[in-house]
Amino acid sequence: MPTAYADDTCDHGRQLNEHYDAATAGQTLLARLREAFLAAGRDPERLSRDDVAGIDQLHLGGRSASRALAALGELHGGERVLDIGCGTGGASRLLAAEYGCEVAGVDITSAFVEVANWLSAATGLAERTRFLCADAAGVPLSAGSIDVVWCQHALVNMPHVPRVLAEWQRLLVPGGCVLLHELVAGDNREPLALPVPWARTQATSHLRCREQLERAMALAGFEPLEMEDVTDAALAWRQEHSRRESQPDGTTQHPTALPGPALIFGNEFSRMGRNLRDNLAAGKVRVLAGSWQRGKR
Ligand SMILES: C[S@@+](CC[C@H](N)C(=O)[O-])C[C@H]1O[C@@H](n2cnc3c(N)ncnc32)[C@H](O)[C@@H]1O
Repeated sequence: MPTAYADDTCDHGRQLNEHYDAATAGQTLLARLREAFLAAGRDPERLSRDDVAGIDQLHLGGRSASRALAALGELHGGERVLDIGCGTGGASRLLAAEYGCEVAGVDITSAFVEVANWLSAATGLAERTRFLCADAAGVPLSAGSIDVVWCQHALVNMPHVPRVLAEWQRLLVPGGCVLLHELVAGDNREPLALPVPWARTQATSHLRCREQLERAMALAGFEPLEMEDVTDAALAWRQEHSRRESQPDGTTQHPTALPGPALIFGNEFSRMGRNLRDNLAAGKVRVLAGSWQRGKR
């Protein structure tokens, strides 16, 4: 029923905006990040992609994981990409800068969209990336206007995956590709250690097991091409980052350091990271990277 959908979507959007913009304290995320770049001796209007890497890769493995996904999808350059749940836009900028893609990012968290647009302008990538605030189940783009749907760690936030996948079918050209780097439930079904970076409660975490994800993709009409379980590499990366975050000053933002994820997630971030590490190590969470094709018709 349309009304129920509207209510559910509203609730989902509000809950995510609260989750990802929790550290606000009377100042927008954009204003806080700009101040942090100034304090680190950077001009917030002229930044490099290295400068912003600490705040624009909100997934396990950082830029290496995005490059590996692009390799898995055999991106050659020039593709029209839709980055679903783009966050602050790091993967979109990577695909534009390193692969010459033309990227639209969509995210339901308005503070992230504002930051994504600013970071693209500041890094000189505004002409090849644009960001829209919308639910992935209703993207304001034309049917058949996208070659590649790209999605990293965002389905885990979504309660309405079949509707989102139907939207990917509408947006992709025949033969278009889906590239997914996603968190799924492992065999250990004990409750997650919480909070984790994507959720503070069990009810707002939408982890599905690999088989459920594969079935949902098949039901939506996508043919599997490749699938890799990248959990071991993700765990090693998370262990290393948790080790660094546990060093003196590792959990809080040093006043002159380049901004890191704690500026987005607040001081809870190191705990979220440790919980994610422990959930991965205990087999409660696994990480997949895969590609699918939309049928040619
Ligand atoms: C864990 S973050 C990952 C961000 C980004 N993909 C990255 O890897 O840096 C998940 C993102 O998905 C977004 N998201 C969740 N549900 C969404 C929805 N229904 N529509 C659009 N974006 C959504 C969140 O706002 C958040 O920015």
